[in-house]
Amino acid sequence: MAFLLPWTCVLVGCFSASLAGAYNFSDLYPPLWEKSPGQLSDYRVENGKYLIDPWIYSERLGMYKILVNKTASYFESIVASNEQNIFWGLPLQHGWQYRTGRLADPRGRKGCGYESGDHLCISVDSWWADMNYFLSALPFLAAVDSGIMGISSDQVMLLPPPKDQTNFCLNISSCQSSFPEIMSKWNVFYQHLQDPSSSFEDLLKYFWAAHVSTLEYASKIFEDRLEYYSKPEANFGRNWSVAVKYLAAALFPTTLVRTYEFQKGLPPRMLVNGDRAPFIHDFTDFQNMVLLVLSFLRQVDNSPGKSLVSNTSKKINISLNKGRNNDFIRYRIHHNTYCQRKS
Ligand SMILES: *[C@@H]1O[C@H](CO)[C@@H](O)[C@H](O)[C@H]1NC(C)=O
Ligand SMILES: *[C@@H]1O[C@H](CO)[C@@H](O)[C@H](O)[C@H]1NC(C)=O
Ligand SMILES: *[C@@H]1O[C@H](CO)[C@@H](O)[C@H](O)[C@H]1NC(C)=O
Ligand SMILES: *[C@@H]1O[C@H](CO)[C@@H](O)[C@H](O)[C@H]1NC(C)=O
Ligand SMILES: *[C@@H]1O[C@H](CO)[C@@H](O)[C@H](O)[C@H]1NC(C)=O
Ligand SMILES: *[C@@H]1O[C@H](CO)[C@@H](O)[C@H](O)[C@H]1NC(C)=O
Repeated sequence: MAFLLPWTCVLVGCFSASLAGAYNFSDLYPPLWEKSPGQLSDYRVENGKYLIDPWIYSERLGMYKILVNKTASYFESIVASNEQNIFWGLPLQHGWQYRTGRLADPRGRKGCGYESGDHLCISVDSWWADMNYFLSALPFLAAVDSGIMGISSDQVMLLPPPKDQTNFCLNISSCQSSFPEIMSKWNVFYQHLQDPSSSFEDLLKYFWAAHVSTLEYASKIFEDRLEYYSKPEANFGRNWSVAVKYLAAALFPTTLVRTYEFQKGLPPRMLVNGDRAPFIHDFTDFQNMVLLVLSFLRQVDNSPGKSLVSNTSKKINISLNKGRNNDFIRYRIHHNTYCQRKS
């Protein structure tokens, strides 16, 4: 296989030109989607406040489910199905984290997040879970604040994690005072969402701006969590956060089908010592290739003056050649100038 594609294509998924019509959408939902809360009244109420425990997978997923539901009408003018809702990217990513064991306690103390223990538990020691907290709690609370949830700002409260509570804000007022820039980026996005003159591309632009600023902030606070992981997994996490900036620059449309297709390229399990792309036997070619592209992007990102972010039309040449019995693999990635597809 050899591909010669713009790097945006590689990440954005030029591999699959499949049409949305070919899917039964409910097969693409994250794990436990159907069983998660779909409206605020599915959560506990205390003193007139909805109480959400974001350290339980289904409850955190429920925040996304409500967001996807409450924002559906803003995407209907574009295509008459919620498949085009750009919020899908977040719950799908969270579902991948859950399915691949990334929300569990990374220090392997059996219990939180493990099949043998409390499998819905989200560990506060998980780097992935903490990064995702900022990409679930903040967009959700900002949505409440913007009025699209139909409740007032003081009617919802998130429960704190068992430790390190000061890293996490729990309600709208504390998130606004602790993370004013991030909350205001999400507020700007919701203003554009509610403005009928915004185009799909405008929405993607403001969505990604809020997303990137959220991750930039969170990756600084939680850097130390990466020490709990194997070297390849920690590096993959770092490479992944760099790659997200590129997805943002390319305005990757985080709709249901596009995200689902893209996620087929992400590691289906945690990386362990000895895993080295593109030689990971139990990964598909696409998964091995995505790991290579991510490490390439991180290298480029680290070399001053070479950032690709500023030029989305730059091409890279990727080829992955397997021997007859998978006994050897040749690969190569470098800058290039043509866009064509070979097989
Ligand atoms: C889609 O999948 C769901 C669950 O797998 C099933 O219940 C439903 O009948 C399917 N719908 C279609 C149109 O195939
Ligand atoms: C949103 O949720 C409500 C209540 O669960 C449901 O009736 C409605 O069909 C949902 N809308 C969309 C677009 O999913
Ligand atoms: C928000 O949470 C903080 C603690 O994080 C608490 O002191 C404050 O009373 C809460 N505000 C509301 C309106 O619930
Ligand atoms: C992450 O990127 C670095 C630098 O480009 C590379 O050395 C490393 O192998 C990558 N890690 C993974 C797991 O892909
Ligand atoms: C982007 O890269 C392409 C191909 O290398 C080049 O032709 C173009 O001038 C560059 N654009 C900018 C804005 O640097
Ligand atoms: C892309 O890489 C492959 C394998 O290294 C090489 O054979 C091919 O000539 C390259 N294409 C271009 C346009 O450089």
